[in-house]
Amino acid sequence: MSLYGKKDIENLLDSDVQKAISEIHVFSEIDSTNAEAARLIRDGRKGIQLVIADSQSAGKGRRGRNWVSPPASGLYLSLAYPFGLEADSLQGLSLITALSVHSCGKDLGAENLQLKWPNDILVGNRKLSGILLELHNDDDQIWVVFGIGVNYNLSNEEKESIDRPVIDIREILPDMPSREDLAARIVDKLISNIAIFTEVGFSFFHAAWNRYDRYQDSDIVVQNAGNRTIGRCQGVDESGALLLLTAAGVKKISGGEIFPSVRAADEFVR
Ligand code: BTN
Repeated sequence: MSLYGKKDIENLLDSDVQKAISEIHVFSEIDSTNAEAARLIRDGRKGIQLVIADSQSAGKGRRGRNWVSPPASGLYLSLAYPFGLEADSLQGLSLITALSVHSCGKDLGAENLQLKWPNDILVGNRKLSGILLELHNDDDQIWVVFGIGVNYNLSNEEKESIDRPVIDIREILPDMPSREDLAARIVDKLISNIAIFTEVGFSFFHAAWNRYDRYQDSDIVVQNAGNRTIGRCQGVDESGALLLLTAAGVKKISGGEIFPSVRAADEFVR
C-alpha cells in the first residue's frame, strides 16, 4: 500500500470532526509530521491541522530518540491543536492521547493492550505505539502538537532494527483495518477526548488509565535525566502524575521513563 487517500481519511472521519479540522495535509514522505505541524503553526495557519505521512525521514521519538518510519509500515500522524490552556496540562493531554489510541485498538478487537506511563501502548513487553507531544506558541495562543506513531506492518528486519521489542497491528488484528480507517478512528477519539479533558480535566480518565496500567502494583524504576527513583507503581493520580510507593513514602512523579528493573534501566542508559 502506498500513499494515503486524503479524501478517504476525510470521509471516514466523524462529521463533527470533519467540521472541526481546518486542513488535512498528506505526504508520501516528510522529515517528521511533528516538524511539519510546527511549520504550519509558524506559518500562521488557523484552526486544527492534521498532518499524515506515508514515511518519515527524521521521525522523532521521546527523549531525542529516532522513530523508525519506513513507507507504509506504520501510521505517522500529528494533530496541531490550538488551546488556551496552561502548559501544565500537557501531562494529562499526553496520557489521554495514549488512552485514545488504546480505546481504538480495543474497539477493533485487539486484546491485552496496556498502557505504560506516560504514553506508550504495549502488548506484554512489546511496544505498539508511541506518542510525542510538543508545545508551541504563536502570538495569542498555545498549540499542542499531538504526534502519534503506530506500528502497522513492519517487516522482521524493521522490527530487529528497533532498539526495543515491538509489535504491530498485523500481529494483533488478523482483520486489519486500513491505515486510513485507523487514522480516522484515532483522530475522532482524540478530538472527542480533548473536548472532555478541556471541560472536566484528567480526573474523568484517571480510573480508565489505572485499569490498563501495565505496571500497576509492580516494582519499577523511573529514570528522569540523571535521577533514578525505585518503588512500587500505584498508578496515576487525578492530574496524571505517576504515584510511586518508595521507602520514603508515596512520591508523585511528573516526568521520566519506566523500567521494570534496575538492570533494564542500566542497559538502556548505557
Ligand atoms: C516515542 O518515542 O515513543 C514517541 C514516538 C512518536 C512518533 C510519532 S510518528 C508521528 C509523529 N511525528 C514524529 O516525528 N514523531 C511522532
